[in-house]
Amino acid sequence: MKRICIVGISGKLGQYMLKHALERGYHVNGVCREKSVGKLDAIMAEHGDRITLFPGKTNDRGVIERAVNGCVGVLTVLAPWGVQQYSSGTAQAVMDFAEPDARLIFSCGWHITMDGKDQYSWTFRALLMLATKLTRWLRFVEIDDQVLACDLIFKSNTNWTVVRGSDLEEGESQGVPVWSEHVQDPILASNKTRRIDFALFMIEALTNDALIGKAPAICGAETESALALAH
Ligand SMILES: NC(=O)c1ccc[n+]([C@@H]2O[C@H](COP(=O)([O-])OP(=O)(O)OC[C@H]3O[C@@H](n4cnc5c(N)ncnc54)[C@H](OP(=O)(O)O)[C@@H]3O)[C@@H](O)[C@H]2O)c1
Repeated sequence: MKRICIVGISGKLGQYMLKHALERGYHVNGVCREKSVGKLDAIMAEHGDRITLFPGKTNDRGVIERAVNGCVGVLTVLAPWGVQQYSSGTAQAVMDFAEPDARLIFSCGWHITMDGKDQYSWTFRALLMLATKLTRWLRFVEIDDQVLACDLIFKSNTNWTVVRGSDLEEGESQGVPVWSEHVQDPILASNKTRRIDFALFMIEALTNDALIGKAPAICGAETESALALAH
């Protein structure tokens, strides 16, 4: 049985990825904070024989080293929490310890740009700047550390994909989201993806080598812009 690792397995995105991974027959190693292990009680009761948990902070290099050992792929939720290089520390540890040929898939938001060619509305930029400053001042969230994490990933020679999520919502799956290189591309105009499908795109990326070295921005398959422009 092939083994993958999900870093941030107890969060909303992480739990959706876990369900997709189990459906595809993977054994899943999961990293989450010790205090969040209980969130997985129900799924552990049902599928505990195919899930191995590694409790700890996701930027704890020792925890990541053990968790990614022997995994063909690593799905990482880049969460910019606290002011302790949480995202960048997590990303660096995953890249340092993953198997050399493993597929590494990272999640982030549309605010990340790989080539600087993404165009954002002035309201988006103003809100992002305000949120970055305010949350850093409150020592709550470090949005610019997710930017640093992605810069480290873009420069690495691992088999990475950075999946850039639009605004998210809950709901039934609409299938694998559409994607494009830049956030202003018309197919992404609806700017909405269901979390379950963000997770689906991450899982599918494990076996899609065409996405290696890319930072796809995604949008729900049944949104207005996707339906109008998908082939
Ligand atoms: N609108 C959006 O929310 C949005 C939009 C676009 C992209 N994204 C991207 O989607 C991904 C996850 O989004 P999500 O909304 O679905 O959230 P999520 O899955 O709930 O993920 C949050 C993660 O952060 C961890 N976390 C929470 N508080 C923490 C703390 N104080 N210290 C350390 N870790 C903490 C959670 O772990 P615990 O279970 O331990 O709490 C969980 O792994 C991120 O990569 C994000 O950039 C989000």
